[in-house]
Amino acid sequence: MTGSRPSRPTLQEQEADHLWWRDGVIYQIYPRSFMDSNGDGIGDLEGIRRRLDHLAWLGVDGIWLSPCFPSPMADFGYDVSDYCNIDPVFGNLEDFDRLLTDAHSRGIRVILDLVPNHSSDRHPWFQAARSSRADPKRNWYVWRDPKPDGAPPNNWNSVFGGPAWEFEPQTGQYYLHTFLKEQPELNWRNPEVVSAMHDIVRFWFNRGVDGFRLDVIHAIAKDPELRDNPEVDGVQLRLHNENHPDVHGMLRELRRLVDSYDARMLVGEVYLMDPAKVATYYGLGDELHLAFNFSFMHAPWDAAAFRTHVARFAALVPEQGWPDHVLSSHDARRHASRYDHATLGEERCRLAALMLLTLRGTPFLYYGEEIGMRNVEIPVNAMQDPLARTLTPQMCRDGERTPMQWQPGLGAGFTDGSPWLPFGIDVETRNVSRQMADPTSLLHLYRDAITLRRQNPVLHSGSFQTLDSAEQVFAFERRDGGTRALVALNFGTTPINPRLPAASVHGGLRTHRQSPLAGDAASLQLGPCEGAVLLTDG
Ligand code: NOJ
Repeated sequence: MTGSRPSRPTLQEQEADHLWWRDGVIYQIYPRSFMDSNGDGIGDLEGIRRRLDHLAWLGVDGIWLSPCFPSPMADFGYDVSDYCNIDPVFGNLEDFDRLLTDAHSRGIRVILDLVPNHSSDRHPWFQAARSSRADPKRNWYVWRDPKPDGAPPNNWNSVFGGPAWEFEPQTGQYYLHTFLKEQPELNWRNPEVVSAMHDIVRFWFNRGVDGFRLDVIHAIAKDPELRDNPEVDGVQLRLHNENHPDVHGMLRELRRLVDSYDARMLVGEVYLMDPAKVATYYGLGDELHLAFNFSFMHAPWDAAAFRTHVARFAALVPEQGWPDHVLSSHDARRHASRYDHATLGEERCRLAALMLLTLRGTPFLYYGEEIGMRNVEIPVNAMQDPLARTLTPQMCRDGERTPMQWQPGLGAGFTDGSPWLPFGIDVETRNVSRQMADPTSLLHLYRDAITLRRQNPVLHSGSFQTLDSAEQVFAFERRDGGTRALVALNFGTTPINPRLPAASVHGGLRTHRQSPLAGDAASLQLGPCEGAVLLTDG
């Protein structure tokens, strides 16, 4: 049981010094869409390398690359056919090494996206496994006989639609797949699989990679008896195929391996909407370094909702752990679209940025959010994401994966060819070069907030306390010894004095750059959807 393990020192005790993944800002890149260096319309590693100066200018401490390993791309890289190489569409291992070296020389760490729950059906492991019941790799995947009537072994559904079982006539058994049938489930109860995964982690760490984002890590352990999931009101509860208690032991083993290297980290996609369950994935500081809190990401535009989600997760993350916050990713509508508003859409982007970059917890940015990229409408017949086919076009994730808008003009600075997905209709006006030239732009606000965070440790390491304020305001205090930062975020459409405590202000940042900082925090006035961070004495 977890309770009998010795508790490890708190992060603060472990590391008095800077910890890059705790104190820094991490930026997610969807490699297909960041920068195309060879004109095929698809982003690649050399493209990312050529854009490192943008990331260094922005001030991020790390990049997380969505999968760039060889893949048939049934799920755009989340179906891996070789865990220790680079897909030719993205380049090769030499390109990767160059990117890593150049990122490191700018102080930027690199996190890869490991997909341990399933491989591609084209992976040589699965090719061997499916060839015969007697193959030594058979038990690397999950196979079961049909029921007497030929039906699948249990009632589990795939997240991507239909049953989670695919029948293979050649060997007369079903195999398990939580996602597409092209993504067969690896059997983590087989020690050979665990050891192969550990070898993959070593392979990349030895190359200099700084960490891994672990795809659907809460699903790697299944009920050993593969019992049916219960159904409530016709909806299947994923009781037996995710969040199984045995996953924690598997994570502890992995963490031991990670800890045998210097300053590496694991951030897990624990796609559970209950933050109390998510928090268990920190263990006692001996499982994940960070676990994504998706309840924050799915919060509506409402001060009270964010206040509640932040406070709840903060209270749940164990003392040895550290929170994190994310608003956009390759799997969800961009927050600039989710929170868009007829007149205050741009202000909301600015307020969201200030919130993300002043909370206690590692901020994860998604490429393009720094210029307020919106989801792009893709015609149904041009949709590429398999979800459009296996579920419904409404579930298509292409809209949040469109190419980065670098500059006006043909190809938008992304490609000399024809982009794999269309640019937003706003590409001529919403792009990096235009915002770079405008000191009042969202891009500059991101940069200034990241700089402020870096220069004022209270903003990354300080304590967090919600402050009483008006219902439409999310106000909080960060404190670190004698230094204090007061943050007030007005989610409402009317101006307000957030009633911050009286304190003399000596620095900070407002989302509306033209307004002066208040002399005294108590006199701060915020316009509609305006926010401010004020540095004051203790
Ligand atoms: C979660 C990833 O974020 C998503 O993009 C992918 O489709 C599934 N896992 C399956 O790997």
